[in-house]
Amino acid sequence: MIPTVAEIAALLVATGVLFQAGRGLLASLRHRKMVVRDEMSALASFREATGDLLTQAQSANIAEANSWGGFRKFYIHRRVDEADGITSFYLRPYDGKPVPRYLPGQHLTFRLQIPGQSKPVIRCYSLSDAPIHENQYRVSIKRLGAPPGSEGIPDGVGSCFFHDMLEVDRIVDVKAPGGNFYLDMTDRRPVVLIAGGIGLTPMLSMANTIAYTKSKREVWLFYAVMNKQQHVMPSHLKRLARDHPNINVVICYAEPTRECVKGRDFHYRGRINRRLLEGLLPSTDCQFYLCGPPPMQDAIIGDLRDWGVAEKDIKWESFGKRKGKKRASPAVGDNVRTVEPIEIVFARSGKVGKWSSEEETVLDVAEAAGVALDSGCRAGQCGTCATAIKQGAVRYLEEPGTQPPPGTCLTCMAIPKEGLVLDA
Ligand SMILES: Cc1cc2nc3c(=O)[nH]c(=O)nc-3n(C[C@H](O)[C@H](O)[C@H](O)COP(=O)(O)OP(=O)(O)OC[C@H]3O[C@@H](n4cnc5c(N)ncnc54)[C@H](O)[C@@H]3O)c2cc1C
Ligand code: FES
Repeated sequence: MIPTVAEIAALLVATGVLFQAGRGLLASLRHRKMVVRDEMSALASFREATGDLLTQAQSANIAEANSWGGFRKFYIHRRVDEADGITSFYLRPYDGKPVPRYLPGQHLTFRLQIPGQSKPVIRCYSLSDAPIHENQYRVSIKRLGAPPGSEGIPDGVGSCFFHDMLEVDRIVDVKAPGGNFYLDMTDRRPVVLIAGGIGLTPMLSMANTIAYTKSKREVWLFYAVMNKQQHVMPSHLKRLARDHPNINVVICYAEPTRECVKGRDFHYRGRINRRLLEGLLPSTDCQFYLCGPPPMQDAIIGDLRDWGVAEKDIKWESFGKRKGKKRASPAVGDNVRTVEPIEIVFARSGKVGKWSSEEETVLDVAEAAGVALDSGCRAGQCGTCATAIKQGAVRYLEEPGTQPPPGTCLTCMAIPKEGLVLDA
C-alpha cells in the first residue's frame, strides 16, 4: 500500500522528534559524564595536592591562595533539608570561575541584604564538606527561632533569612573562606572531633577530608544531639564509619524519643564527658577539636584538662559570643586579670564608657554607652567590628580568627589594656 502525503509528513515529524530526543539524551549523558569526570578530576587533583598529609607550608599556601578581595557573588544552586530546621545550601560562584580551596574547618562570611534591616547583616557559616569541588561550596545552617516562651523577641535574622527567603538561584555576597580553626594535617596522632548540635559542620569538613584523601589517621568523631529529629546526615555518618576502618563515629542522644533506637540511630544516651572519652580513646595523646554550645564546650574543655590533655592539643571554635563567667582560656596577650575600671573614649560620638569586667568586650562597653559600632559575628571571625585605635592598646579574650588591619582592633573580642581612645 502506498502511504499518503499526510502519512509521510507524520512519519517525518515523528522521526524528527525521536532524533531530537535521542540527541537530547546523548547530550545529557555526555553532560553527566563530564560532571562525573570533573568531580573525579577535582578529587584526583585535591588528593595529588594533599597526598596523605598536608605539610604546614602547603596549608599556608592554600590559605593564602584563598583570598579574593571583598565580597563575591554566589547563587544558591541547591538546598537540602538535613534534619529538623537544618538545611544545607550549595553555593556556586555567579561569575562561573573556579572557587579557591579552603582548609577543613574554615568558614565563609556572608553579607546579607535583608528587607527591614537598616544595614547589611554579616554572618559566618562553616564550610560543611571537604574542599574537593572546584565550583561549589556547602554550608549547613540551623534556623534559629526566638527562644520558646519569649514574647516580643525576634527570630534569628540571618539564619531565618537563609531558610525562609534564599531559594534556589537567589544571589548572596560572600567573603573568601577564612578562620584559624582548621585541621592540622601535619600531625599523625589520632584526631578527636567533638561536635554538639550544629557545631557538627566544621567537623564534617574535617572528617570528610580525611576520608576523601584516604588518610589512614585514626579519627574519633563524637556527635551530641538531642535525638533523631536533630541528627544531621545520619546515613552519611554511618557510611563514613563503615567505609573507613580508621574513622570511628560515636553518636550521643541527650533525650532520645520513642522512635530512637539505640544501636541503630545512636550509641550512647546522655552527654559527651570524660568517662565516655576515657573509655574509648587510645590515650590523651591526641589532637582535640571542639565545636558546640558554649556550656557543653566549656564542660568538655574542663574534662580534657582534668584528664591531662596538653593545652596545645585542645582547639575549639565558638559560633557566637561566649556567655557566663567561665571562659575557656585566659585572655590572649598577657596574663593580667585586673578588673580595675578602665576608661574608653569614643572620640567621634563624644561618649565615654567604663570597662570593669573580664567578661565585657570593648563592643559591650560601646553599646552600653550608646555608641552604635558595626558588628557581625561577635566572635572575632568576620572583621566587621574593626575600629581604629587613636590612643592606648588592647588584648584579646581569645585569638581572633581574622587579623584586624594595622592600627585597629576587633571590638567584639578586645579588652582594653589601658585607657583607650577609639575612632568611633
Ligand atoms: C565562625 C562561625 C561559624 C559558624 N558556623 C555556623 C554553621 O555552620 N551553621 C550554623 O547554623 N551557624 C553557624 N554559625 C552561627 C551563625 O553565624 C549565626 O550566629 C547564627 O545563624 C545566628 O544568627 P541569626 O542572625 O540567625 O540570629 P541573631 O539575629 O543573631 O539572633 C540570635 C538569637 O538571639 C535571639 N534574639 C534576638 N534578639 C534578641 C533579644 N533582644 N533578646 C534575646 N534574644 C534575642 C534570636 O531569636 C536568636 O535565637 C557560625 C558562627 C561563627 C562565628
Ligand atoms: S563582629 Fe565579627 S569580628 Fe567582630
